[in-house]
Amino acid sequence: MDLEALNGLLRPKSIAVVGASNKEGKIGYTVVRNLLISQYRGTIYPINPTESVIQGLQAYPSVLDVPGTIDAAVITVPAKLVPAVTEECGKKGVKGLIIIASGFSEVGRHDLEQQVVDIAQRYGVRVLGPNIVGILSNSDLCNASFAPFLPLAGKAALVSQSGALLIAMDASTYTRRVGFDKMVSIGNMSDVDFADTVEWLDQDEATACISLYIEGLRNGRAFMHAALKAAKPIVALKAGVSAHGAAAAASHTGSLAGSGKIYDAAFQQGGVVRAADLNNLFDRTLALSLQPPMQGENMLIITNGGGVGVLATDAAERYGIPLRFAPDDVQTELKKHMPEFGSAKNPVDLTGMAGRDWYYASVRYAFAHPWVDGLAVLYCETAITDPLEIADGIKQALDDAGVKDKPVVVSFVGGEQSDAARKWLVENGVPAYDAPDVAVNALAALREYARSRQLASEVFQRYADVDEATARAIIANARAHHNHSLTEIESKKIFRAYGMPVALTEMAQTEDEAVQLAEQIGYPIVMKIMSHDILHKSDAGGVKVNIKNAEGVREAFRTIIANAKAYKPDAIIEGVAVQEMAPWGTEVIVGSVDDPTFGPSVMFGLGGIFVEILKDVTFRVAPVSADQSFKMLEEIKAGAILAGARGEAPRDRRALAEVLSRYSQMITDLSDEIAESDANPVLVYAEGQGAKVVDARIILKK
Ligand code: COA
Repeated sequence: MDLEALNGLLRPKSIAVVGASNKEGKIGYTVVRNLLISQYRGTIYPINPTESVIQGLQAYPSVLDVPGTIDAAVITVPAKLVPAVTEECGKKGVKGLIIIASGFSEVGRHDLEQQVVDIAQRYGVRVLGPNIVGILSNSDLCNASFAPFLPLAGKAALVSQSGALLIAMDASTYTRRVGFDKMVSIGNMSDVDFADTVEWLDQDEATACISLYIEGLRNGRAFMHAALKAAKPIVALKAGVSAHGAAAAASHTGSLAGSGKIYDAAFQQGGVVRAADLNNLFDRTLALSLQPPMQGENMLIITNGGGVGVLATDAAERYGIPLRFAPDDVQTELKKHMPEFGSAKNPVDLTGMAGRDWYYASVRYAFAHPWVDGLAVLYCETAITDPLEIADGIKQALDDAGVKDKPVVVSFVGGEQSDAARKWLVENGVPAYDAPDVAVNALAALREYARSRQLASEVFQRYADVDEATARAIIANARAHHNHSLTEIESKKIFRAYGMPVALTEMAQTEDEAVQLAEQIGYPIVMKIMSHDILHKSDAGGVKVNIKNAEGVREAFRTIIANAKAYKPDAIIEGVAVQEMAPWGTEVIVGSVDDPTFGPSVMFGLGGIFVEILKDVTFRVAPVSADQSFKMLEEIKAGAILAGARGEAPRDRRALAEVLSRYSQMITDLSDEIAESDANPVLVYAEGQGAKVVDARIILKK
């Protein structure tokens, strides 16, 4: 990372406003005014060709006339003037441009945008935007934007691809009481993108949590890399997941990938916490910016009302934190701080009689107890208790417990007094929400964060026993002889070169050859038509199974050829495949796509209706370790089938995980060649008996 240039851009000590104006209503006017109102402590240089004074500040006709150095230049002149201004900024030695002007790639003017970037790069100038609102920083008292004011001060930082949304979020920090130190609008991301800002914010001392609004990443892998390296929590709202990639995808895997599942996978692999919507982004940001991650599984709920307790319990299940009964010692102690009719199990129901003292005692004890990994404290406003007193009791208990490495979230349901109590709690570092499910969701974010960091630390180890050269030779040969779709036999040879177990398959041109191959492979065998013109072999009557002897082979050969000719008279038939008949096993599908954002990505699901109808599949950006692959087997809804549901013997998941991991290496190594591929089906046998790729397909890039 070019730290110095980004420091100049994002924490400038001097700012030029190119296009500064005295005319109210203009963006060039607003930016100067905002810098003045926010009491920016650095130097402001208004740039205007005709005015000598702008809003009381000395103005200059060009950045080249400015006597001092300029860290950042905010560009508020029309798009067509930006290349010339960029040239001047380059000559002046400006570190970064904050290009507010619109009219670039977002309206098809990629050329103009590229011209600006080229000029900037020639001078080593970094570019934020174009088509942005600007940057805002509380710790620098810097509102270099046309958003009306600095956000509510806090520990989060927002990076937004949408400018309008950033302005709206800026204003709503006050009503939502989620504090931000910085807001960065990145617009068209012609140069500085999410990866750069994440990396920079990670070393920014005023930022505790990085909050992202993403429409599309420019370079998915660079983002994942930056996210993985970041020591701070990152929470992302990804908009526009519905149609991504789906339209262009020809294959099954491709259409399944179009639903944002690869973004899900990439975020998980990069340790990025996902937000479901805008409210959720704020709620999760609040918790992640104020609280440590939740390292274990045990959440304890303390409440004064059964109703909110039940709502929190439902939410716990929904958001993936299993709720367990508290251990006996916890129950015994907590029983001391509630009436006879309370409950100390989990949720711990202190009952509606609970006042400050009971909350204090139970929170203090529970928070310090080693069994508790995270605490959700709920309160319903009652006529006999004072919300502010309860809040004070909770805060005091948390402090007195002396615990710093576990999280707490709070929910106060009630009226104005509860609202005031929530505000006080947040100001004192405790994330407080107006509904129990929202509080539990926030705790779940802290759990997801801890979990994804653990997952992200697993490193892929390359398999050394692969034969990439053979795989490439097969591809080169195929390219020389036919189109970009490899035959099953070619595909399987490549799979085998990567150490995957495949059902042996050879090509026969004649009946005699077929018999000879069948005898080499061993009966029973399967025979299939091989033709680039016949994609659905079974529909064409081109598949015969369980052939037990030479006579059967001869008969099958004749029938298959005749059926194929009848099905598609002009089909070019390459031959008939003679294949080992693999014993029956559980059918699974392994597939790949070359995602436009993240590159080669692997899909896994069970075969048949599970993938066709239920779309029960999971993705990872390749490559994936065998351990990560094993998690893929567990995370599909039908994962229990492989684990041995309903008395069935467990399947050989270790062997299958290795197939997935080797496959992910294959599509990574050969990513310059392979567009899509799949192994469908892979048969998985009982534990210890392995798995076998029965059919395989590779489609090359054009
Ligand atoms: N250097 C410095 N100032 C210059 C200049 C130059 N080379 N050339 C012109 N100027 C001055 C103009 O004289 C004018 O000053 P004035 O008010 O004193 O006359 C000022 O720069 C602005 O130029 P103007 O032509 O009046 O433009 P504008 O203010 O109408 O619009 C933009 C400029 C950038 C705001 C507009 O083109 C734009 O892109 N708007 C959209 C911004 C946006 O929405 N961004 C994305 C948010 S998500």
